[in-house]
Amino acid sequence: MTGPAATRGSRPTAPAPAPEPTPTPAPAGLAALLADATERLRAAGVDSPRANAEQLAAFALDVPRSRLVLVTEVAGPAAERFAELVRRRADRVPLQHLTGVAGFRYLDLAVGPGVFVPRPETESVAGWAIDWLRGRAQDDGRGVAGDAGPVCVDLCAGSGAIALSLAGEVPGARVHAVEVDAAALVWLRRNVTASGRAVEVHEADVCTEPPASLTRLAGAVDLVVSNPPYLPDADRAAVQPEVGEYDPALALWGGPDGLDVVRAVVALAARLLRPGGRLVVEHADGHGAAAVALARADGRWRDIRDHPDLAGRDRFVTARRAVHGSTG
Ligand SMILES: C[S@@+](CC[C@H](N)C(=O)[O-])C[C@H]1O[C@@H](n2cnc3c(N)ncnc32)[C@H](O)[C@@H]1O
Repeated sequence: MTGPAATRGSRPTAPAPAPEPTPTPAPAGLAALLADATERLRAAGVDSPRANAEQLAAFALDVPRSRLVLVTEVAGPAAERFAELVRRRADRVPLQHLTGVAGFRYLDLAVGPGVFVPRPETESVAGWAIDWLRGRAQDDGRGVAGDAGPVCVDLCAGSGAIALSLAGEVPGARVHAVEVDAAALVWLRRNVTASGRAVEVHEADVCTEPPASLTRLAGAVDLVVSNPPYLPDADRAAVQPEVGEYDPALALWGGPDGLDVVRAVVALAARLLRPGGRLVVEHADGHGAAAVALARADGRWRDIRDHPDLAGRDRFVTARRAVHGSTG
């Protein structure tokens, strides 16, 4: 039997040389790898470089970070994985995009390109909402016992961090999550499905007339919570690369004063909430007075208060829906 080269009348070609075997990387000591990675990340301007290095090492080794103390030597392939992760983090790819996970309260949320990475300061926003929902029987006289569970709406839901926290931490909560961005909706639906929690997802723009799926809730909602985009457009040049290059623009920028979407959220919440229901809205630090003034000017809110985050910075405003006042 002749080979193809012979049938075309050409000389048989020499067989291609076998590829060089990839040398097996030498194992390396974890302490030295971590020290080196920390210095690389520090030099690249990454905040908390040691913590980042440890989280990437834990991811590369597929162990919880708390188990790193038990690791002395890192096998070659894991050391290579770690080196590549550190290289990308030094290029300022967000840590959570490298690991694919963002921790938020009791949740591990899937995140990546196309969705905002939930931030620790939002945990206290969700915490206030959860505490109020759990204690609302004392707060406003409505009984929890025997009722069907509070109705909650998360406007600008992103990955679902707040909505899924409410659904997981408030017994019986009936949670709705509203998001406009198609890419973010993919992550939101993925996290809702993975959690197995009962969160109804609405594709809607909070700045325009809401769809019937939302307006049917008007006057029946116990709590509206939101972490909307709130950075003033002028801050574009000032944000870190992880934010400016990887968080979606729609998640960040709130118009000339940063309050465009906050205003829309306050107006929509006034339509959705029952009298006595609560509004919780995160805002930029430095926007505390403006957020309170905005709710006062709206006229449909009482008990308007601003709250600091764990770092002591103005972070979110809360208000009670007045009994009187137009629902339009
Ligand atoms: C700052 S992120 C917050 C996401 C999530 N709630 C969290 O705390 O991680 C704001 C989210 O609002 C969404 N968004 C922006 N404008 C919106 C609008 N007009 N209607 C609905 N969602 C909007 C963005 O796509 C983004 O997912």
